[in-house]
Order: sequence, then C-alpha cells, then structure tokens
Amino acid sequence: MPEIKFYKHEPLPMEMHKVKIVQQLTLLPVDQRVRKIREAGFNTFQLHNGDIFMDMLTDSGVNAMSDNMLAAMMRADDAYAGSETFFRMRDKLEEIFGIPNLLPAHQGRACENILATRFVKPDNCVIMNYHFTTAKAHITRVGGRVEELVKDEGLVSKSNLPFKGNIDLEKLEACILKETPENVPFIRIEAGTNLIGGQPISYENMKAATDIAKKYGILTVLDASLLQDNLYFIKVREEGMKDKSIREITRMIADLFDIIYFSGRKFGFARGGGILVRDIDLFHSMEDLIPMFEGFLTYGGMSVKEMEAMIVGFDESMEFDVISQGPQFIKYCVDQLEAYGVPMITPGGGLGAHLDASQFVSHIPQQEYPAGALVCALYICGGIRGMERGTLSEERNADGSERFASMELVRMALPRRVFTLSQTEYVIDRVKWLYDHRDMVGGLRFVHEPKTLRFFTGILEATSDWPEKLAEAYKAEFGADQ
Ligand SMILES: Cc1ncc(COP(=O)(O)O)c(C=O)c1O
Repeated sequence: MPEIKFYKHEPLPMEMHKVKIVQQLTLLPVDQRVRKIREAGFNTFQLHNGDIFMDMLTDSGVNAMSDNMLAAMMRADDAYAGSETFFRMRDKLEEIFGIPNLLPAHQGRACENILATRFVKPDNCVIMNYHFTTAKAHITRVGGRVEELVKDEGLVSKSNLPFKGNIDLEKLEACILKETPENVPFIRIEAGTNLIGGQPISYENMKAATDIAKKYGILTVLDASLLQDNLYFIKVREEGMKDKSIREITRMIADLFDIIYFSGRKFGFARGGGILVRDIDLFHSMEDLIPMFEGFLTYGGMSVKEMEAMIVGFDESMEFDVISQGPQFIKYCVDQLEAYGVPMITPGGGLGAHLDASQFVSHIPQQEYPAGALVCALYICGGIRGMERGTLSEERNADGSERFASMELVRMALPRRVFTLSQTEYVIDRVKWLYDHRDMVGGLRFVHEPKTLRFFTGILEATSDWPEKLAEAYKAEFGADQ
C-alpha cells in the first residue's frame, strides 16, 4: 500500500485497520493517581491496569490481535503430544525462516533460559550488540558474563544515524581474540535493541558480525523478538533494500544465523515463544530441556489457541502495512516532542518513543533513579504508564555498588495496532506539560530491593513530597478531575 496522501493536511501516520472490539478506559483524578503510585511503591510494574489511562509499559503480549488471528484460535488442536497446531506452527516458521527444527517455549525469556542452560558455562563470555534484561539474567545465573559491543554512537541520545543498534565489528573481533573463541559459547544479535530505544541493526552489520563469528567457529544467535520493527527499518533505511519484500529480507537475515529465538508476545502478536535450530544434532542436544522447563515438545507451555493465533500473526508480521504502523506512530510522537525541545532518543526507533531522562530531569542524580522518577511523574501527569529503562533496570555489581546504566530512558511503548492518533496526541500534550514543570520532579530511593530483576518487584519511595506538589501544579492547570 502506498503512503496515503492528504489534500489540506500534512501527512499523518495512518491506522491501516479498523476497530472491531474495544476495552473501556478510565482516567482517575490526579489525587488518586498520586495515591496509587505511592501504593505501587513508585514502581509502574506494581500498578493495577484499571488505574491506568494509557498503558505504554510494553508491547509484550498486549498487541491487538486481528479478526483472522481470533478466528484461527477456534481450530486449535488440543493434545498433550502431537498437536496438529504445533506442526502448523513449525511449518509456518520454516516457510518464513527456512529452518525446520522448532523448540516451543512459553515466552522469550524461557528461550533464553534454555539457551543459557545448554550453552553457557561458568566464566563464559556471551558477546552481543546490547543486552536485554532477561537474556543477561539467565546468562549470569549460570555463571556467564555478557560483553556489549554496540557502536559508541548507539549510546548517543540525539542522532540521525539509521542503525544505532549496530555492533562494533572491530571490537567484536578483538573481544573474541581476548576471550578466545572457546570461551564464547555464542554471539547474540538483538534485532531492534530493546534497552537503547528500539534502535535497529542493519542487514550489512548482521552479515559482517556473523561472518566474524563463523571465522572463529562461534555459534550465532538472533533474538528476533523485535524483528518486525527492524525489518521495517531495513526496508526503508538501508541502501539496496527498498525493492525487496519483507519476506525476502527476513530470509536473508535468517540465513545468517544458527539459532533464532523469539518472544511471541511481540513477534506474532500473541503470547508464546520458540527457538529455531538449524543443525539437527544441536537441536536434539537441546530437546530434553523443553519437557523439563516448558512442557511437552509439541506445546512448550503455550496454549494451542495462542499458537494458532501466532501462526496468523507471523504472516501478518510479513506485511509492510502491518509492521509500519508502530514505527510511523513512534516517529510522529518523537518528532512532535523533539520540536518542542523535549530530549528524546532520535531517530525514533521501534517499540516505543523514548524520553532521555538524564537530560529531561538532569537535576536528579543517577543514584536517585532519574528515569524511575520521571516514569512515576508521567503517571501522575496523565495516567500514562511507561517503563523505566535505566539504572533501576540494572543489577548491582558483585560488591554491592550501583551499576549505573549507560542510558537513562523512559519508554512509552506503542503496542501494535492499539492506540489511535488522538490518544497519541494526548500523550504528547502531557509530556510537554511535564517538560515545562520538570524542575518539580524529585528522586526515588529503595525501601525493598530484590537482588535479581529488581525493577519488577522493588518498592521505592519519593525522596520528598514532590509527587504531591507536582499534582497541585497539575490540578491548577487542568482541574482536579483530570
Ligand atoms: C529483545 C527481547 N528479547 C527477549 C524478550 C523477552 O521476551 P518475553 O517477555 O516474552 O519473556 C523481550 C521482551 O521484552 C525483548 O524485548
């Protein structure tokens, strides 16, 4: 479908679908939101969904499903072993990626558990462009280490570079030599880097990185959870790719890797996951872990209904009109806010629009979690739930000191096909207001701090009564009922 042209209006991102089923939203008054965020321990993961107006926490498992996905659920074949649904899923993935061996798993982190358990030994080093929280947690759980070699420019918030997720090829080769190839169980490439603003990686960079890995006999692993956004960017931003279909690009990428895993909560628009393994002996060497951790080899902990929906979702992920909506909405949001002067991660990537908290609230020291504080302020100022992607999302060093994140981000995810443009405009408007009142936002400190993945269940408190003062200013602007 070509870009829709307007007569008297600037181009706008367009929804290439219509709404058939809706969920009613409520907007709690601001005073109640202050109470709710206190009760949630200043942790947006602990909020109840009913207390949220715009849920922009994540794109995981909350993308809108299509009529065809829902219809497919009706033909799900329930069986402990040998479900026909599994074979349909395996065949569809083989059609798309060209790999016939599928290990099913209930979500992306379950795949990461299987990979770490099978391949990583104590003190091994897994090299990657950038880590994802659960990928790193599983690798370190079994005693491994992670080396992140995204190019320096990937960590610069303002930029117009098209592929900020690219791995530094010189550093990659140097790291392999330093570690020795035997100590590197695999190289993990994350398409659409989650923690640095959904920034894509180019096909050319993936090819060069996997060539280096092959030269040293190291296994190559693709995390394809955010592949659909990355495919869109390769098609529109990478030289020589615009005339290729999304399916062609997908196959070119897949051919580079030994193993591809994905979260079906993102790739496939449903809830599940899977690992594709090219080599049959390697596949067999991993099989026993699936019944042990997930479920039998033909469902892997997933509901067969979700698997059927996902099979249709895979096909939809190969449609340009479907995968372009997220990045286009994100670009719109990023461009509007940037024009207002709000520090954003640019260019807009996939997954969501990202505020650069280190500049937005530059008066909050990193040990008081600027991104964590800003995400709470965003909930107070509009009922918008985002996600902290900064120091709170890191784990402490072995000696107990803070490991400060390279970037302090607030992610406002745009789950696929969920929000309309007026809802997006509301978010832009509230962020502008918050930016104009940014000096009122204060810091956070831990009251209860879990050792692992502390951002999920940690309880914090505000370092002063800044939430109440911010709410007072908000009421003066919009009224007490907003
Ligand atoms: C790049 C990436 N890999 C892995 C995962 C983990 O997937 P899941 O949430 O299904 O466990 C995510 C989830 O956000 C992700 O973004």
